[in-house]
Amino acid sequence: MRLFVAIDIDEAIEQRLDDYVRTLQPKLPGVRFVRSSNYHVTLKFLGEVASPDKVLEQLRPLRASAFEVAVRGVGFFPDQRAPRVFWAGVDAPSMAGLARLVDQALEGLGFAPEREFHPHLTLARNGSGRPRPVRGERSPESFAQLCRIVASSPAPEFGTMTAHNFFLYESRLSPGGASYHKLESFALAG
Ligand code: 2AM
Repeated sequence: MRLFVAIDIDEAIEQRLDDYVRTLQPKLPGVRFVRSSNYHVTLKFLGEVASPDKVLEQLRPLRASAFEVAVRGVGFFPDQRAPRVFWAGVDAPSMAGLARLVDQALEGLGFAPEREFHPHLTLARNGSGRPRPVRGERSPESFAQLCRIVASSPAPEFGTMTAHNFFLYESRLSPGGASYHKLESFALAG
């Protein structure tokens, strides 16, 4: 199973992100935007996991508090010159602490800890969307056009919410794109 740990986004923010993306889509038919039902903020990507039960055992005892999340601004990974991922910014100082707890809990199972945590919400991917281009992959011109539009527009505000849970997700890959399925919810206190 291909697994990751993530935070969900409140419906009101999801709607504003969707409205924003809908203003861009007609100008950018070549850009592969993420379906709004797939929006999330990844805390840790685990990849293929043979025994999800062991992951669940490590995550269930984690204790952390609910925290505030603001979604604002948009940008690109790794940068505007060679954009791979178009994201909405996630401003949530307490989220890094939770990501660290998840990291530490899973280290014993052999998952390498992350070097840095850059919380973001992916809105579109260029090619495979992985940080380095896959061989033979081209950067579509429409992604460059997306960069130009973003550079000449004011930074959008998508709203604030409180994260009360985090989730273990399964990602199922198919030619039509990935679909995400919640395996378990973990409550954050308060
Ligand atoms: P992304 O949104 O920046 O692409 C499910 O694939 C989630 O795990 C996505 O949010 C994705 O981040 C994240 N992720 C992190 N590293 C990944 C990797 N090596 N392969 C696939 N997804 C990854």
